[in-house]
Amino acid sequence: EDDRRTRLRQALDLAARLYHHLLVNTDHGQPARAYLERRGVSMETIREFQIGYAPASRQFLLSFLKGRGYQVQEIEEAGLISVRENGSGYYDRFRGRIMFPIHDAQGRVIGFGGRLLGEGRPKYLNSPETPVFHKGRNLFNLHRARQAMRKDQQAVLFEGYMDVIAAWQAGIRSGVASLGTSLTEEQARVIRRNAEMAIICYDADDAGQSAADRGLELLHEQGVIVKVAQLPQGMDPDDYIRERGAESFRRDVIGSALPLTAFKLERLKKDFDLRDEPQRLKYLTQALEVVADLPLAIEQDHYVRRLAEEHRLSLDALKQELRRIRRRKQ
Ligand code: CTP
Ligand code: MN
Ligand code: MN
Ligand code: MN
Ligand code: MN
Repeated sequence: EDDRRTRLRQALDLAARLYHHLLVNTDHGQPARAYLERRGVSMETIREFQIGYAPASRQFLLSFLKGRGYQVQEIEEAGLISVRENGSGYYDRFRGRIMFPIHDAQGRVIGFGGRLLGEGRPKYLNSPETPVFHKGRNLFNLHRARQAMRKDQQAVLFEGYMDVIAAWQAGIRSGVASLGTSLTEEQARVIRRNAEMAIICYDADDAGQSAADRGLELLHEQGVIVKVAQLPQGMDPDDYIRERGAESFRRDVIGSALPLTAFKLERLKKDFDLRDEPQRLKYLTQALEVVADLPLAIEQDHYVRRLAEEHRLSLDALKQELRRIRRRKQ
């Protein structure tokens, strides 16, 4: 059983080397190199992340691995080939894609994410669940980020491969991404084991924001101190770094991430027109509900004061209202 998994990992490792070689050293890799260059990915980063290219041919990897002594069944089990629709024969799962190897915590290749060079669907194709690849249990880039996560006691959680890679180039070494799914409880536990704090830095679109909402609850439940980074509407971290640069990303996005409660209060604000008196009162009541759920009295005190200052209200009145909400919640 263990031998079998070792064989699968060896096949995956060979595939990663072959894809990388093709990208870096051959004419076939030229369009993929040009694509990555356009996106600002340096040669050094290509080597560091062992980024590769899977050619548009149907049996390129299959023939190569067969030549290295792997059985068709093993190659399929590794998630590298698929059965033809009509059941007769096999073809490479990844064709005409930029290949991002995914590693386990020990740095062994366990799967891939593959991106098309242009438009088309699906934009990303990932390895299927296999005996060595479990999407919900692993995080992209964990084995590289772990050291920085432990040292800084801080992880940065992204949505996509390219976000992790762009952030890496911008000097953020503790970036990881969940693998094409939203964050799982197991992934949240992995983060907790390596860092006390996590900054969620998801895309500033509807999908990203609802994924962030789920992610922050999961992390919070695991005892991780959560912060949420804010990006201009419609951007993702990779876009931001390309448009506004590494320094601004580190300072204005990562460095200015909001603590969980401040983030919740900011988000709540967006549902109200604060210039309208009745709506402002409604906002304040709901804001106090958020504050009343905080576990520490000093935290509650901090945010009540902020609300009082921000809205020029008497601190006593807000505190009285907070006590009323707390009694009701008991
Ligand atoms: N994803 C996926 N399958 C898709 C689309 C997305 O697995 N069909 C995953 C990928 O891990 C991707 C992440 O979700 O990196 C975020 O998706 P999206 O924001 O659409 O992609 P980007 O990472 O921004 O990709 P790019 O910048 O290359 O367009
Ligand atoms: Mn599984
Ligand atoms: Mn997105
Ligand atoms: Mn994105
Ligand atoms: Mn992107």
